[in-house]
Amino acid sequence: MSPARVRGAEDRLRDLPNARACVAMRCRLPFEADSFDLVFSRFLMGVPSRKAPCVQEMARVCKRGGKLLLQDLDGQLVWHYPEDADLQNTTERILSRLAGTGFDPFVGRKLFSLCLGARLTNVNVQLDPYHLYAGCISEKEFSQWQSKLDIALPQLVAALGSEEAAQEYSERFLQYLRRPETLTYSCLFTVTASKP
Ligand SMILES: C[S@@+](CC[C@H](N)C(=O)[O-])C[C@H]1O[C@@H](n2cnc3c(N)ncnc32)[C@H](O)[C@@H]1O
Repeated sequence: MSPARVRGAEDRLRDLPNARACVAMRCRLPFEADSFDLVFSRFLMGVPSRKAPCVQEMARVCKRGGKLLLQDLDGQLVWHYPEDADLQNTTERILSRLAGTGFDPFVGRKLFSLCLGARLTNVNVQLDPYHLYAGCISEKEFSQWQSKLDIALPQLVAALGSEEAAQEYSERFLQYLRRPETLTYSCLFTVTASKP
């Protein structure tokens, strides 16, 4: 959705004559029906708004006999052991607030049904670990989580009522990832399907 990011993509695609980048709403793709051999989306179904029309739109622009490939996460932010009860409760509060916006941390498991609902066939599901941290997280992953939480700060403030509470949650989450006895994980669903 960000024109600046799309310009960055255009720069990187410069040497590929059959590639171009554009900004569009996921439910209204600016392409004719039956245009592409492969239609791919990654981490797009967890964002607010309706998922079924989006998969139907991907199916519309796919050629007959072409493929869709959808990837999304399941359990992001949520699954940890041993549980830190305060952290877990606060995460639940944040997620129930975000649910009102349509954000879905368990969208990965829904891709299969979404493909069936779009009348796709040969629907195949693959499951891989993602964000799997057994013990202390690496510095690189730590800074990625720091950025994610910084970007999410306005939503955290909205859910928790103050900037102070939001900062405290972020700090606690990050420190949890650094503890040597903690396990954190989520799952990556990769679903492929054909357009008959
Ligand atoms: C979690 S990011 C994933 C980005 C990228 N696909 C990746 O795998 O890193 C979600 C992306 O969906 C975009 N987005 C959110 N709502 C959208 C909509 N209604 N239509 C199209 N894109 C949307 C956001 O701008 C953001 O780039």
